[in-house]
Amino acid sequence: MTKLFYFSGTGNTLWSAKKIAEILDGQLFNIGVEMRKPAETIEADRVILLFPAYAYQSPLLVRCFLDRSEFRSPYMAALTTFGSDPGGALAEVYRIFKRKKTPASYFAAIPSVENYIPIFGPQPEKTKQRRLALQEKATEKIAQDILQRKTNSVWPLRPLSMGISSLFKLSKSFFVKGFKVSAVCNGCGVCARICPAANIVIEKGKPVFLRRCEQCQACLNWCPRRAIGYLRFEPDTCQYHHPQVSVSEMYCSL
Ligand SMILES: Cc1cc2nc3c(=O)[nH]c(=O)nc-3n(C[C@H](O)[C@H](O)[C@H](O)COP(=O)(O)O)c2cc1C
Ligand code: SF4
Ligand code: SF4
Repeated sequence: MTKLFYFSGTGNTLWSAKKIAEILDGQLFNIGVEMRKPAETIEADRVILLFPAYAYQSPLLVRCFLDRSEFRSPYMAALTTFGSDPGGALAEVYRIFKRKKTPASYFAAIPSVENYIPIFGPQPEKTKQRRLALQEKATEKIAQDILQRKTNSVWPLRPLSMGISSLFKLSKSFFVKGFKVSAVCNGCGVCARICPAANIVIEKGKPVFLRRCEQCQACLNWCPRRAIGYLRFEPDTCQYHHPQVSVSEMYCSL
């Protein structure tokens, strides 16, 4: 049995997870859902962890998931999707595996569409299509590598990435104030159901943002009314999600 644990905001990582699960006949688990349950020992013939690179490292929720779980598997893989440069995202997971004495077998980065629209702006259509094609090719190759149980390693020390990630963490309390919700919000609750960090509650028919936002971009990009804005991401403007992933596949709660 192959178990794939993924974290995804706009569906890029979920798309690669689904593709690899299809090729390896694996079982998918959403880390946003798993983190709402008690910690477990995870036993499998292969365990594959998939997540987006965030500020050259991994999302905090992924690190918490790794820290609290015990893995019993002879083959552990970590894969990161990224928009331009994954930095030390895989190195960080490698260090966690080593600290937990978990056998680390295979690491790879998957080029994807950049989804950090509030910072980098929307990607031109041509760039999106090029990156989607690159993602497909890389994902298929990685699935074959894992099928053949290939192994590799990563250089664990990435001081620049660790510094950038620390700045990102420090800026989180500022970022939490960046959300705005326009009058077109109808209180449907999609944003609350989709948030992997359980950071949104609906109060009096409107979303309220708590203080554990991962910056995953899910709420902004999946809101059916385009009602959420964030920093320079204005409500009713651009949205991005992987074109072959649907909103219902992204739900973390009912
Ligand atoms: C908060 C945040 C930080 C990001 N940091 C990086 C980064 O350091 N390097 C990079 O190449 N892409 C970065 N990205 C882009 C994502 O890693 C990339 O678009 C990923 O495929 C998104 O996956 P998802 O659709 O599964 O959420 C960042 C995106 C967000 C939202
Ligand atoms: S998904 Fe959009 S419309 Fe629905 S509650 Fe959230 S902000 Fe409002
Ligand atoms: S509040 Fe929005 S951006 Fe923050 S973690 Fe939840 S879905 Fe992602």
